[in-house]
Amino acid sequence: MVRVLFVCLGNICRSPMAEAVFNSSVEKTGLSGLIDSDSAGTSDYHIGEPPDSRTMDIVRKYQLKLDHQGRQFTTNDFDKFDYIMAMDQNNLSNIKRLLPSSMPDDKVFLMRDFDNKDDTKDVPDPYWSEADGFEEVYQILLRSCQNFIDFLKKNRADLSA
Ligand code: 4NP
Repeated sequence: MVRVLFVCLGNICRSPMAEAVFNSSVEKTGLSGLIDSDSAGTSDYHIGEPPDSRTMDIVRKYQLKLDHQGRQFTTNDFDKFDYIMAMDQNNLSNIKRLLPSSMPDDKVFLMRDFDNKDDTKDVPDPYWSEADGFEEVYQILLRSCQNFIDFLKKNRADLSA
């Protein structure tokens, strides 16, 4: 089983949306049951809360599935997950700051390292924006998740047929 964790600041907008988009792409690629995903926030702002209503609007619009409660990233996640996908560079540095010195940082990635359309490094934080900000995040995540799945298929022997 390949385990992937998506991480943003609040765990109510970008990372739960990433989880939903990723799961949908995994299902369409025929890899359900082989890849598991979850999401978390670097902050404790929204622990126990459901995803933002504007993220749920995207989930409904694109017929995704999402059942998640906000939780904070912990150092245990470095053991539990094979790939930790930070939504932006702040998230990335906050995650790496928690990395035990004995552990390599080679499982921590920036989500947009997998975006082939744009050189921008961050999935923009849509929290203070309108619905169009969430739509933009969806389009970025759709591209990045598909490319990330292609990367996993190439690099993980346990995913090849
Ligand atoms: P997220 O968005 O990191 O994509 O979940 C945010 C959600 C909440 C806050 C900031 C960003 N906040 O400051 O409460």
